[in-house]
Amino acid sequence: MEKIADSSVLITGGAGFIGSHLAETLLRQECKVTVIDNFDHYYDPEIKWKNIEKIRNSSKFSFLKGSILDPESLLSVMRDVDVVFHLAARPGVRASVENPFLTANINIDGTLQVLENARKLDVEKLVVASSSSVYGNAKYRPTDEACPLNPISPYGVSKVATEIYCYTYYRLYNIPLTMLRYFTVYGPRQRPDMLMHKAISKVLRNEPPIIFGDGNQSRDFTYVDDAVQGTILAWTSKESVGEAFNIGGGGNITVNELLLLLIEECDKTGIVEPKHTEKALGDVQHTQANISKAREKLDYSPTIGVREGIKWMVEWYKAMYLSGAK
Ligand SMILES: NC(=O)c1ccc[n+]([C@@H]2O[C@H](COP(=O)([O-])OP(=O)(O)OC[C@H]3O[C@@H](n4cnc5c(N)ncnc54)[C@H](O)[C@@H]3O)[C@@H](O)[C@H]2O)c1
Repeated sequence: MEKIADSSVLITGGAGFIGSHLAETLLRQECKVTVIDNFDHYYDPEIKWKNIEKIRNSSKFSFLKGSILDPESLLSVMRDVDVVFHLAARPGVRASVENPFLTANINIDGTLQVLENARKLDVEKLVVASSSSVYGNAKYRPTDEACPLNPISPYGVSKVATEIYCYTYYRLYNIPLTMLRYFTVYGPRQRPDMLMHKAISKVLRNEPPIIFGDGNQSRDFTYVDDAVQGTILAWTSKESVGEAFNIGGGGNITVNELLLLLIEECDKTGIVEPKHTEKALGDVQHTQANISKAREKLDYSPTIGVREGIKWMVEWYKAMYLSGAK
């Protein structure tokens, strides 16, 4: 990819799950990568250090431990970059139900800080992480980008607000920006609060994985490499400016089916069975992305199916947490 080699990029939240994969991929493509991350305590900051362990010594990598909510820190890293990937956020639907103020503060005010700097600094491109949560219980499926935004959690609201601010700054100042609605991303380094990570951790220890509700809720799962592919294409595509795109895996599977696959992949069929608890507040019933727009305009094409993706995630989990070698 000749075009992006030697570009200078900033990833906010680049020590997190998706951000650290993005950083690795961009370094492989010869970009100069800067990360700003405050290592917040939403989950163990040690995990985030590990996420960037392999790339920290790269001569093309630089890092600031700081918050996007601190204008000086943010300005110092945004000043000399061509492209900004804004991924820093308080993720998690349930966390947002518990502490809606914190979610709004990081996700909405944080985005506003990024937009204000982008306006002043004339960045070449800004790619912003949104979420399938903006649709809530979507009016139809597969859900395209024209579907009404109808969030049912404070997290979803924070991402709708993120998008509206982005559109507004695009119209006001013509900032070349693109928003990405990720659909449940999974794979190595997935956040420990997410379903697949929690389930693999339980199943491999012969403990019952927990399913919220009856398990008939379904998700479109996106393997992290595909999410990274879509994220980079949002930067390089000429047709992405001022638009939001679904970044999904292109499939749909119920949580019950997923757990069966996962138990099979862990070699625990007949040994462990899921346990059902109460449905979680704020969780949507189904997600399924129509990714035609991303296919057409970004040339996005997810390549990893759920069975294959689970296999790799289970292998990663074993190597990371069960081999003794962390
Ligand atoms: N993982 C998914 O399935 C998914 C789905 C939809 C949307 N998203 C969005 O994608 C982005 C990345 O998600 P993720 O799963 O990698 O989450 P993550 O929590 O692993 O990564 C987010 C990173 O942001 C950092 N951060 C939080 N507050 C910050 C602040 N004030 N200043 C600087 N850094 C800060 C955290 O320390 C963390 O490392 C988020 O915007 C999230 O809302 C993720």
